[in-house]
Formats: sequence, structure tokens, C-alpha cells
Amino acid sequence: MAHISELIEKDIHAYLKKQEEKSFLRFITCGSVDDGKSTLIGRLLWDSKMIFEDQLEALKEDSKKVGTQGENIDFALLLDGLQAEREQGITIDVAYRYFSTEKRKYIVADTPGHEQYTRNMATGASTADVAVILIDARKGVLTQTRRHSYIVSFAGIKKVILAVNKMDLVNYSKEVYEKIESDYRDFCSSLDFDEIESVPISALNGDNIIEHSYAMDWYHGTTLMGFLETVEVSKKTLENPFRMPVQLVNRPNLDFRGFCGTIESGKIAVGDEIVVSSSGQTSKVKNIITYDGNLEYAIAEQAITLLLEDEIDISRGDVLSETKLQPIYEDQFQAKIVWMNEEPLLPSRSYLIKFGSQTAFAQISDLKYKVNVNNLQHISAKTLELNEIGVCNVFVNRKVSFDAFSDNAGTGKFILVDKYSNATVGAGTIDFPLRRASNLHWQKIDVNKKAHSNIKGQKPCLLWFTGLSGAGKSTIANMVEKKLHLLGKHTYLLDGDNVRQGLNKDLGFTKADRVENIRRIAEVSKLFVDAGIITLAAFISPYRYERREIRELLDDGEFIEIFIDTPLSVCEERDVKGLYKKARTGELKNFTGIDSDYERPANPDIVVNGYSTTPESTAEKIIDELKNRGFLV
Ligand code: ADX
Repeated sequence: MAHISELIEKDIHAYLKKQEEKSFLRFITCGSVDDGKSTLIGRLLWDSKMIFEDQLEALKEDSKKVGTQGENIDFALLLDGLQAEREQGITIDVAYRYFSTEKRKYIVADTPGHEQYTRNMATGASTADVAVILIDARKGVLTQTRRHSYIVSFAGIKKVILAVNKMDLVNYSKEVYEKIESDYRDFCSSLDFDEIESVPISALNGDNIIEHSYAMDWYHGTTLMGFLETVEVSKKTLENPFRMPVQLVNRPNLDFRGFCGTIESGKIAVGDEIVVSSSGQTSKVKNIITYDGNLEYAIAEQAITLLLEDEIDISRGDVLSETKLQPIYEDQFQAKIVWMNEEPLLPSRSYLIKFGSQTAFAQISDLKYKVNVNNLQHISAKTLELNEIGVCNVFVNRKVSFDAFSDNAGTGKFILVDKYSNATVGAGTIDFPLRRASNLHWQKIDVNKKAHSNIKGQKPCLLWFTGLSGAGKSTIANMVEKKLHLLGKHTYLLDGDNVRQGLNKDLGFTKADRVENIRRIAEVSKLFVDAGIITLAAFISPYRYERREIRELLDDGEFIEIFIDTPLSVCEERDVKGLYKKARTGELKNFTGIDSDYERPANPDIVVNGYSTTPESTAEKIIDELKNRGFLV
């Protein structure tokens, strides 16, 4: 880098030491290219001289050739490589840029400003201390300004600076600036910011970026850089109560038991009392070990290993905290969620939930509303689509430790992960815990599955028939049940059409309803299997995710997935119930195979087809398979 290369050459150690001592500021720039975002970031990099010399030369050349600023340097070109990639549809989630000044080191998160990039902006904002909200002075507070501010507030940023750009194009008018500032402050009253600064700038001319602008002598506030250089950040993580999620229990031998993790908030000293939130057990800190030796105390963001005075039970995922201000330990809470996946949120689906090093399974229920990020209106909704933000209740399958996001940003957020693809599908912040209306315990029942099975003299299982409507599932399942019955087996057949007339009569055929349909049937089937019964279930069950969930719900080997692989054309030609015809004419919506998906099993236990042989012989084949698997001895 041009200005520091000399120092690096002369004294690399002095240079490195200086860098280490500088404080860090992470900020996000919100705005679109039209607002002058690229020019602003380019200008900051330029003025802080954090541009490599070869980039500098290229920039000068490009500015002459293709720049839009005549003989002057076009800062926006610095970022145009990125822009080009975006235009080609290459997804760049968040681009981070680094620069430094005498005082601070900076990381700028740069995300595209359009609505379809809400998830990227939320990701970029989640690690930032400050947001620069960029506005074009000619346009004032726009819908997108409100959206950006809402997302930034959602992600927990407490300090924003409104940069009213392109002041040169409004004759540096004080009135224009003050009107925009007051509009913006009015809007922000509904958001949870601690500090809102505002500055009139021209990124292009450098007005009020680093130096005060002569053209705006009526303005006596901070320059943009002045704000970034002095804004106080990160104190909260230190002030908050001590929290350390245990990432690893280090037990190389019987005499050493260390709990490793990064302190999420607060501080800890040798001799302090700590509590394990899951068990309520307490102990005192005996030693704090780090890579660089032992410490008397440690603070937020440090990675440490704690040794305790007592032998207490602690495992990965447990949260250690101070005894006075403990985290919440519950299995339900209200949260705000930003949805990050192409496939919408499905309330009955079980997702993996991760809070730091804790993982569990969660279901989203009671989606209360989604937020129109453009005007902050609440809209009632059953699901969240990609880039939408909603408020909902989250039910976790076990108690977990957390704080409200407003109390502790680090322990008040989570992500949701697709169990099978491992993709992050959503991210959320916790509003408050919900307590169960009644405290439930698992009641031990003495006559258990084994006893039920023994008395029936059989090994129970679940025969799950999946396939298109009209594939032959019900017919074949019915035939298999008859054969089992003749063999003296205790069976029960759950059939889609029948169950939908009773237990599931409140459900239709949207994706969300089908997921709930299968979730309920999976639970019912589990009860039947627990009763020692050979259970047959014939449902389209079009989604792989839910079929895998059933397998996981049952004991090993109990779930037998039978794919009735009959082509759509055959099912449609049969059209026993006349439904395909209705679906083709549009009279029936969301019909599987027509305008609703069917995901073929990737690895079924048994594949048969429902057209080339008789149901009788297909059923016989399935019976043989059951014999092979030891179910019919
Ligand atoms: S599933 O998709 O939720 O598993 P399920 O097996 O319970 O479906 O019900 C399917 C039966 O409902 C079909 O056999 C058919 O008779 C009837 N049905 C009515 N509307 C639809 C539809 N839109 N899509 C599929 N099946 C439908």
C-alpha cells in the first residue's frame, strides 16, 4: 500500500505492533449503487490509501478510459469488478473490504441493496457495529432507506450514521439536508437504535468525508470519517454478564479436565463462581489457560480453557455463566426470523437449530406475522419466503440456554439448518422465552413396546407406501395387509384418503399442509408400532425430508420405505377418481405430479411398480421381503 510500504520496509515489527494496538470497527454500508455506494467505499479506500499500487495504476488508467468523471478518478470503478460478477448472476453473499487509518482498522461489509438481498444484508449486518445509511440528497428517504434501516435494526446494530450524499447536486442546500435528516429521525423512532448521527456529504468530491466541506460551512457536525474514527463500540459484550458456550471438553488424562470455548460476553477471573445452566451445578474457576499461558482473568472474545475446582458434569454445548445473572433455560421462545432459503419455511418441518455450540431440533409454529420490510407493516402469513422476515414462536425439542437478543446479542441469536442438506435456511433473534402452560414429564409406562410385541408374537414395523396418486399404494397396501392378516399378524392400515376425513380433515394440499399431514401420521404410526402392531401407511408423502424424518423417529430397521414407482402417464390414464382430469383443467390446484412436486425416494427399501404385474404378486413380493428382513418368523 502506497503510504505504508516505507514503514513496512524499514521496520516491520514496529508496523505490526502499531496495527495490533489499533481498535477495530466493523461497519456496513447500506444503499444502492445509484446512491453512490461504490463511490463512497472507493473514496474511503482511496483516502486511507489502502489501495495496492498496481490497483492504483489500473484505476488511473481505467478512469481515463471508461470512467464517468472526465479527467478525475472514478472511485466507483474500484468496486466494479464485483458489480460485474453480480450482474452475471454469480452470488456474492457479502463482500468484506479492509482498510485502516492511523487510529483504527476497518472492515466494511458491502452487500447489494435490493430487496432480494435481504438475507445477505442481514448476514453482513450481524457482525457489524455501525451502519452507514446512504441516501441520495435529490431523492430523500425512500422505501429502500426504510428497508435497510429495518434490517440493520433487526440484526442488532445500535448505531447508525445517515450519510446524505450528492449534496453537490442540490447546491449544498442546508434546507434539503435538514428535511431529510428530520424525516429519517421520525422514521427511526419505531426502530431500536441507541445513536443516530447524520452528515451531509459528497462522496465524489470528498465533502465531509475526511475534511470538513467549505461548500457546507453551515454544517458543524462530524465528518463521516470523524464519526467512524471515534464512535464507541463493543462495550456491551464486556458489560453483559459472563457467558461461555463450551465448545470442547478437553480431557487428555484423568487429572485434567478443561472446558474450552470463546467467551461470548462479560469477564471471568480465577476464583469466580460459575453455573452450568442446564444442570444448575456450580463450581469455582481454578485456572484460566490460554495458548499464551495462564491468565488471572479473561474477557469477551477471548478463547480460553477453564479448569474448575469441582468435578461437575459439563459437555459440549453447555453454557457456563455467572451465578447472579443466568441465561434463560427453556424450550420455547418468540423470535424474529429472516428466511434465507429458496424453499419457504414450513411450520411443521423440523429444522436443526444452532445457538453457538448448542444444537437441537426446532419447529416453527404460530407464525404471527411477516413484516413488509418496505413499510414495516405486519402481514398475516402461513409461511416465509426467501428474504422475508417474520415473527413466530419456536419450539425446541429440548431446553436450551439463551438470552433475549436485546439483552445479549451473542447468546440471543440462532440459525436454522436443513437437517439433510446442511444448508442454512434461516437466522433469527430471540424476543423472549415462552413458558409451557403445564410442565410436562415423560411418563414411564411399564407395558412397553417389547411387552406389546411379545404378547402378539411378532416384531412390529412400519411399511410406508409412497408414490403418486393412483400409483396403486392403497390397493397394494390393502393386499399386503390381507396377507399378513391371514398369516395371523396384528396389523393396521392408515390410508391417506381415510385419515384426511377424520384426524386430518383440517388439512388441505399446500406444501405446509402436506408436511403437517405426514408429521401427524408419523406420530400416529409410531404409536401403532409401539403397540406392537405391523403398521401400513399409504400416503403420497411427496417430500423426501418428511420421509426421512419418519425413519429417524422410529427405531433402527423399523421403517420400511416402499416406493410404488408407477409413471405419471399411467396414473393419469387410470384416473380412478377423476382428479387428474380436474387438475389438468385447473379445477383442482396443487395436484401432485401436475402442479405440485413429487420427490422420488433416493434410496427406498423396496421398489415395486403398480402396473406391470398384478397387485397380488406385488404384495407377495413385499411379503417375501419382510420374511427376508426377519419380520415374519
Ligand atoms: S399427501 O401428499 O399429504 O401425502 P395424501 O396421501 O394424504 O397426500 O392424500 C392424497 C389423496 O388425496 C389422493 O389419493 C387423492 O385422492 C386426494 N387428493 C385430493 N386433492 C389432491 C391433490 N391436490 N393432490 C394430491 N392428492 C389429492
